[in-house]
Amino acid sequence: MPKLIVVTREGEEREVEGETGLSVMEVIRDNGFDELLALCGGCCSCATCHVHVDPEFAAKLPPMSEDENDLLDSSSDRNDYSRLSCQLQFGPELDGLKVTIAAED
Ligand code: FES
Repeated sequence: MPKLIVVTREGEEREVEGETGLSVMEVIRDNGFDELLALCGGCCSCATCHVHVDPEFAAKLPPMSEDENDLLDSSSDRNDYSRLSCQLQFGPELDGLKVTIAAED
């Protein structure tokens, strides 16, 4: 299974495996990282699944929707590599992706 590297807010780094077809948010949550709240369950309406993605992978990610962009605008921790992890589908093309869980707003 493809691997995802997750960095917590405390800087702890852990490599986990993720099933193809799940969202990056689901892979993070299913591996027990409870600091990623993902309150809306993945319907792009809460922004509590905000992560910073590895710049190396930025070009491989799907373009951001207007809704995702608007939601990220409400976060004080937004940067050029901000994405909502529920909007990123995980799979072999993202094997080795590193994401850092963004600060809580
Ligand atoms: S889980 Fe709510 S926007 Fe991603």
